[in-house]
Amino acid sequence: MLLKGKVAVVTGGTRGLGRAIAEAYAIEGATVVCASRRPGPADVDLMEFDQVDVADPDSAQRLMDRTVDRHGRLDVVVANAGVNHDGKVHRLPVDRWNEMVGVNLSGVFHCTRAAVGHMERQGGGRIVNVSSSMATRVAIGAAGYCATKAAVEMFTKVSAIELGRKGILVNCLAPGILDEGMGRELTGNDKVWAAYRSRFALGRPGSAAEAAQAAVFLAAEASSYVNGHVLEVNGGLLWA
Ligand SMILES: NC(=O)c1ccc[n+]([C@@H]2O[C@H](COP(=O)([O-])OP(=O)(O)OC[C@H]3O[C@@H](n4cnc5c(N)ncnc54)[C@H](OP(=O)(O)O)[C@@H]3O)[C@@H](O)[C@H]2O)c1
Repeated sequence: MLLKGKVAVVTGGTRGLGRAIAEAYAIEGATVVCASRRPGPADVDLMEFDQVDVADPDSAQRLMDRTVDRHGRLDVVVANAGVNHDGKVHRLPVDRWNEMVGVNLSGVFHCTRAAVGHMERQGGGRIVNVSSSMATRVAIGAAGYCATKAAVEMFTKVSAIELGRKGILVNCLAPGILDEGMGRELTGNDKVWAAYRSRFALGRPGSAAEAAQAAVFLAAEASSYVNGHVLEVNGGLLWA
């Protein structure tokens, strides 16, 4: 029970990696608010659903305020909600670029901004931002996604320095390719997966449950001196 009594918000907690993180947190004893735009199942003990659009700063603020109203505190925020739109730079529609920036990057800022006051009042907290191995690796057709995830990692490092004295630790989880969520676009397509397989040192993609264990570590007492860190969970990815 590494998170017993903690209250956590997981954005994008209704499916994919976010759902796995929410389940792992609940198993460790946290009360977990799974938040996304559309309702999803929150059928596990200690888990509940709440609505948010992280691209909207007021919506993010309402989510954090409601969580504190209902549960009395806010210990952990996992800024996991994300979207991916492929397209080479000269073909990527502007609205898709804007959505990636709004959700993947501004969404992380909005959640941090909305949580800090609550965490500071109670003497501290944890923020776990979710980037990707693609934050530091070139992938053709993924300029918007790679750029927003790279920005999340730098946002994490600056936030960590600014918020450390308030007792708020900010770290980043950078998963490789998972066999769930948006990673399925790669692993679920035999032709594409055949081309990528050799880049996986373990010869397989990760599971969301494996990445979720790293998110448990970043929320638990065991990481009390880890701040501003990007924790890659990619099985040893051989990707230039
Ligand atoms: N799966 C992978 O292989 C992989 C690898 C590296 C990094 N990641 C990162 O891990 C995170 C989760 O990815 P995933 O694969 O689990 O994706 P996913 O299965 O597509 O789930 C995305 C989640 O985010 C929510 N969401 C999207 N836009 C939102 C918004 N504006 N406001 C609130 N919630 C929103 C979705 O719910 P609604 O649509 O209902 O809002 C959903 O719950 C992302 O940040 C992704 O970049 C994933």
